[in-house]
Amino acid sequence: MKSVLIDCDPGLDDAVALLAAFGARSLNVKAITTVAGNVKGPQTAINARIIREAAGRGREIPVCAGAPRPLLRDAVTAEDFHGSTGLGNLPFPSPRLPLSRAHAVNKIIRSCRAAVAAPLTLIVTGPMTNVALALTMAPNITEGIEEIVVMAGADREGGNITPYAEFNVFADPHAAAIVFGAGVPMRCLSLDVTHQIRTTKSRLAQVREIETEQAQIAASLLDASNQLEFSANGARDAPLHDPSTVIAVTRPDLFSGRRVSVSVITEPGEQFGRTVPHSQKDGHIVWYERADSDAVYAALGEHLGAYK
Ligand code: RIB
Ligand code: CA
Repeated sequence: MKSVLIDCDPGLDDAVALLAAFGARSLNVKAITTVAGNVKGPQTAINARIIREAAGRGREIPVCAGAPRPLLRDAVTAEDFHGSTGLGNLPFPSPRLPLSRAHAVNKIIRSCRAAVAAPLTLIVTGPMTNVALALTMAPNITEGIEEIVVMAGADREGGNITPYAEFNVFADPHAAAIVFGAGVPMRCLSLDVTHQIRTTKSRLAQVREIETEQAQIAASLLDASNQLEFSANGARDAPLHDPSTVIAVTRPDLFSGRRVSVSVITEPGEQFGRTVPHSQKDGHIVWYERADSDAVYAALGEHLGAYK
């Protein structure tokens, strides 16, 4: 059983990632922390609470709201790809269980400090603002972190928000620079790999065939993502960005890449928010480049079916 803390900006694909993580038998989700990103901060916290209840999980997994804006740059959101609610405007009931009073950054710090004997895996699927603040406020929390598995960046694939920048990094490039530069063992799922993992009609149908409520909810979220992806940029099958980070934790054998260090362009200009991986034999970051996409969806289906 691997203990994980998930920092996210739900968002349609973050929501599917949470459903997969809550269902995965090999994961022990200790807490959810939320950050401004796809939609404004308070809405990402509401969405995380909605998905926590959709998964049948309760207060034993706290949802803690975090940074309401990036470290330095102006805030940007991605409603075009997630709808105004962040969950594709799907008709979810309002959450009943409360938000934790703990701030996300303090939750990350306390959770890591308590985990020195059994270090945590941080799964990060939004802008890295909370994690950067935690590492800055309490550098020694790295002793309680086994690794950070992050959805962020782009290199050979090019960006999805500008020709160079991927959204999570573009939304807070200074935070990304701090986290990539902290020296913590990381595995990075950039667009270079997530663009290979797409929700085709047949894969969506496979999820629809799983007889759990959570799989049906995930299918609706994936379908909404496909529809918004098509209306936003004409692509038919949306990439499985954030759920792939969860699968990279439960099934690392499905991914391969190279060891790198990563620099982030934070100077204003057309390359603002660009990530540059530098191959390095002893690099502390694995930059994934390939995935067994069919097996990733099979693993996703297994986690969504495990709620039975
Ligand atoms: O670029 C894709 C990433 O940006 C995903 O995490 C998606 O949820 C958005 O946050
Ligand atoms: Ca996200």
